[in-house]
Parts: sequence; structure tokens; C-alpha cells
Amino acid sequence: MSTVIEDIIARKVFNVRGEETIEVDVITTSGFGRASAPAGESRGKAEVVYYPQGGVDQAINKVEELIALEIVGLNADFQEEIDRTLHEVDGSKDFRVIGGNTAFAISLANAEAAANSYGSLLFQYLGGHVVHEHPYPLGNAISGGKHTQGKSPDIQEFLVLPYGAESFFEAAATNAQIHRRIGAILKKKDEFFSGGRSDEGAWVANIGNLDAFEILAKTCKEVGNEVGFECGFGIDVAASSLWSDKEEAYIYQRERKKRDSGEQLEFISGLIKKYHLVYVEDPFHEEDYESFAELTKKVRNCLICGDDLFVTNKERLNRGVKMRAANALIIKVNQVGTLTDAWETIEMGKRNGYIPVMSHRSGDTCDWHIAHLAVAFKCPIIKTGIVEGARIAKINELIRIEEFLGDRAKMADLQIL
Ligand code: PGA
Ligand code: ZN
Repeated sequence: MSTVIEDIIARKVFNVRGEETIEVDVITTSGFGRASAPAGESRGKAEVVYYPQGGVDQAINKVEELIALEIVGLNADFQEEIDRTLHEVDGSKDFRVIGGNTAFAISLANAEAAANSYGSLLFQYLGGHVVHEHPYPLGNAISGGKHTQGKSPDIQEFLVLPYGAESFFEAAATNAQIHRRIGAILKKKDEFFSGGRSDEGAWVANIGNLDAFEILAKTCKEVGNEVGFECGFGIDVAASSLWSDKEEAYIYQRERKKRDSGEQLEFISGLIKKYHLVYVEDPFHEEDYESFAELTKKVRNCLICGDDLFVTNKERLNRGVKMRAANALIIKVNQVGTLTDAWETIEMGKRNGYIPVMSHRSGDTCDWHIAHLAVAFKCPIIKTGIVEGARIAKINELIRIEEFLGDRAKMADLQIL
């Protein structure tokens, strides 16, 4: 067995939106790894740059002409060294030279190749043989905001979290049941409902924010009673998409309402109270750490999660920790570029009592690596949709891991709830 990298191959493939993206193969003397990069639609401003000028073609040139020269011959099991080399070859702060998605695909493919060289599964290679906790699946049931076109809620995502489930399979099956039930309700409510779904597989319907809250509350309660455990729900406001610098307010187009920061705080905390929301992501725009901190102080038993706020970035998280801005953080490896960067952010979050939520991107691929990362890095929640191919790829991989672990598999401890 040898983990020396013999070759690295990059190609152009597509994500679920039919956009071009990069896929990388890393070949060691005795193993192989492959990873493809996802894309976001409602991206944080402080994310790394996905591709160099010239797009995916130019990224592939960089792999062949620049990166391969530095990486071939290194050991795949020195993940930190591989990731550091990617930063050195790039030389910028935000991967604008080689592309953050190029770094992402190489970093992940490398970890997979190292695991494969040892005959291990990725989650065991990264997490060791003591990891056996599964994340709860946080799944998008109704879409709005930037993830839809036309008439739909202003809030980007209405999410289900079956936190009382005793196994991952049971949790994923419950999410699917809730998703189906919501589809039936939408059909009854609107005779023109076409069954349309967003990139993440969530329903797109001509309803307002409050309709969506009522539907989620009713369905989660009903299905929760049937399955015999708690099904909570929450939202991703993706508030940077609603915020207008000019008007200094959040613009709710569908509702025809403007809310300044104070009104937004009242609105969101009112929703948390009324609907017992267990999860609220990006309730304020990405520079408003102060309002995040006020909300976090004000509410109980609810995860206040930063996505665009932290962009998986240590420095931004550090600022958040100091200000007590939130109690959870989204982890999207391609927001920051490499596995090592993401891992360091997760560890900083955990040391400070933040719950890491491993997450897909709206424009994802059928790459399933985040399923392994969630288990390996002990993230108690994975946000990866309920239906649709790229989401199911991750969910089914977690089902396989659960089967592999057999009696040792158990669900994560979600203390905050
Ligand atoms: P994305 O965002 O479209 O950038 O992937 C999804 C999210 O806000 O969680
Ligand atoms: Zn988000």
C-alpha cells in the first residue's frame, strides 16, 4: 500500500443546474479518489472565488500546468500539506488564481484517494474508528427567495428537522413523508399548483411566508404524531438577499413590506416564539453581527445559524464568537476552499459551543462526500435537502454508513433542543 500521488486529472462536468463545474481524480500508487465541486446561488460576499478568469477551462489548465507539478509525488495522507500547497500555488487570499472550486475538488479527491489507498471508508479515515454518530437531516420542504422565480415566499427555505428520530433512515423517511404531505396540501390549496420544485427539490408554490409557516406547523405536528417522535422545523431567511443597502431595510417583495433591522428582529423572534422554530439561518444580512447577537441572546431552544455570515471562515467565525453572534454555523467546504480550512473552522466552532451544520449547495452534484464529512467531523446536523438526485446521493450514502456501522450506529446528541 502506498499513498504517493501518481497523477491528478481534471475535467469539466455539470451540476444540477446544468452549469459547468470541475471534477478531479487523484490517483495514488494504490488508491483512487474523485470529487466534483458544487455551486451556490445565494452566495456570501466573503466566499472564496470559485474559478480563475476563464472559468472551468482555465481551472483545468491550472491543474495540468501548475498544480500537478507541485502535488504529484506528495503523499495523499498528508492532507494538511496538500491543502497548504494549494494555498501556496495560488498565492492569493481568496483562491482567485487557481479557483476555490479547483482547490475544493483536489482537496476532497485527495482525502478520498488516501482513504481508498488504506482500504478505508472516508469517514473512518478522517474521523477514526470511534466515530459512529449520525447527523440529523435538515431538509428543505418549501423554497422561496433567490432559489425560485416568480411567485413564492420571500424566505428562501422552509426546513424540516426530525430531531426525535432514533435512526438516520427513520429521520430521512420522515422528511420524505412530510415533503409528500406538503405537496398534497399545496395541490389542494392552489388549483394551479404545478408540482414545481427548486434545484434543492423543495416545492415552489404561489404562497406567502405565513402560509408556508402554517403548512409546516400542521404537517410536522401531524406526521410527528404518526411516527411518534418530534419533528421540528425552521427557516433559512438568507437575509442578505432581502437586504437593501440603499433603503437600509429588508425588502419582502411578496408581502409588500419593508422591515428595518429592529423590525426584522421583532419579526423573526415573533416567528420563533409562535411556531417554536428550532432552526433559523441567516436572519440578518452578512455584516450585521450585532443583530445576530441580539437575537441569539433573546431566544431559547433555537439554533441561530450563520451561513453567509461566517462562510466557513475562521476569522469571520472568530468575530462571531467574540460577539456571541450565533450558536450554530453552516459548513460548506467550497466557501473556503480546502478540507483543512473547513476542519479548522469546525473545531473552532465546537470549542466555542457552536453546532456545525454540514451543508450542500443549491447547485450541487451527485458527489456524496459531505455525508462522510458530517460523520467524521461529528456534525450533529446535515443540511442536504429531502428529494432530488444530488440530495439523495448524500442521504443514501448516510444510509449505507449506518448499515456499515450496524449496532454501533447512533444518532448525534442535539443538546440545544
Ligand atoms: P446556496 O445557498 O444557493 O449559495 O447554495 C443555500 C443556502 O443559503 O443555504
Ligand atoms: Zn443559507
